[in-house]
Amino acid sequence: MERFVIQGGRRLVGDVQIGGAKNSVLPIMAAALLTDEEVVVRRVPRLRDVTSQIRILQALGARVVHDEKAGTLRIKVTNEDLVTAPYELVRTMRASICVLGPLLAKRQRARVSLPGGCVIGVRPIDLHLRGMEALGAKIDVRGGYVEAEAHPLRGATIFLGSSAGSTVLGTGNVVMAAVMAEGVTVLENAAQEPEVVDLCRMLEKMGAKIEGIGSHCLTITGVTRLRGVEHEVIPDRIEAGTFAIAGATTGGDVTVRGCHPPHLLAVIERLRAAGVTVNWSADWLQVKAPDRFRPIDVSTLPYPGFPTDLQAQIMAMLTRADGISMVHERIYPDRFIHVAELHRMGARIRKEGPTAIIEGVAKLSGAPVMASDLRGSAALVLAGLTADGETEVHCVYHIDRGYERIDERLRSLGARIQRSSATAAAAAGG
Ligand code: EPZ
Repeated sequence: MERFVIQGGRRLVGDVQIGGAKNSVLPIMAAALLTDEEVVVRRVPRLRDVTSQIRILQALGARVVHDEKAGTLRIKVTNEDLVTAPYELVRTMRASICVLGPLLAKRQRARVSLPGGCVIGVRPIDLHLRGMEALGAKIDVRGGYVEAEAHPLRGATIFLGSSAGSTVLGTGNVVMAAVMAEGVTVLENAAQEPEVVDLCRMLEKMGAKIEGIGSHCLTITGVTRLRGVEHEVIPDRIEAGTFAIAGATTGGDVTVRGCHPPHLLAVIERLRAAGVTVNWSADWLQVKAPDRFRPIDVSTLPYPGFPTDLQAQIMAMLTRADGISMVHERIYPDRFIHVAELHRMGARIRKEGPTAIIEGVAKLSGAPVMASDLRGSAALVLAGLTADGETEVHCVYHIDRGYERIDERLRSLGARIQRSSATAAAAAGG
């Protein structure tokens, strides 16, 4: 099991390049099931989740060629008889549920394992299923699998929402089913996240008819056939935000390149409120941070609000604010698993329901901590970068799910962070 060993206390300085968005590329890969022509995806990040999604596409009869160096995927369906996405593959990654819509649309049948629990809290898929049923699919949940049939799918007016607002993957899934349904689908309360927009733009290039892209209401007129496409994935706003907050957390001066700052306006606004200087242009963003921050309140919200996927990272930064900050988690009320580990490093955080109250301290102190979800683990790395002494972050495979070579890239900014495997440590007597 690999871990990161971090010697804290170095300001991060320099430039870092951002890759393609994980949360865009996964549904985009699923969309390749909608055509029998070749789909070429560019700016594909090298991530464990991408590898997992490749395996699922292969299990569903697609030939996938991944040129990791070029960041390109070539996907071509060669067998449409396969309709099962098995538990062994689906359980590692929730985004695999996104094959349900394309399978129903193109093969009229799907058998997809339920994705299961997750440390960031309960993550149901009732809205995905409600959307498919509204389009006329017959759905059974049996033996841990969603078994769905379409005879065929027909356009409908659907309200897709829960108490937490819209659903990102649910919107993508239902859109992918609706693009080949008979007639017109009106999707109310659609998610507006840039990753949903990216998917819709790709589907348009494949021949889908979608109006209202980027708004809360999508109108989709079904077509009988979609063609192959070449598509470049948008830059990862969460990765960009993580590096920006990392720079700020260490009191550094970091320029994040190849990103799209208009996707990060809520984050930029909160960083500025905390006293960080932020400059940005079309494809770069620079943060220059003071030693301590002003305390701020942060509420996570659907886009364009502050993203839940940056909540843990901003909390790591606020552990060193000069006063009391509040973080309200409105998307996943239980997404606070990082709090206990931050305590181990000397952070003062009190949790009251979906709110964390953070009393800033002058310094964190390095400690062994355990990663248990992707963004929470990133927060522990950030805390380690600013702490006194040595921090060991265990189980870093969680971070590798969503950040490409984060250790190497942080080192290029001056961080002292090393990846070490348990075997290497044992051999060294450590
Ligand atoms: C996507 O998950 C992202 N994952 C998540 O990123 C992100 O945190 C989340 O959107 C919110 O922005 C991918 O894109 C692969 P939701 P998704 O459906 O689509 C409730 C990361 O760290 N809900 O928008 O699964 C749900 O419980 C990951 O990269 C239902 O009630 O999230 C939550 O409270 C983690 N029923 C809210 O809606 C449903 O059927 C929003 O969830 C679906 C969702």
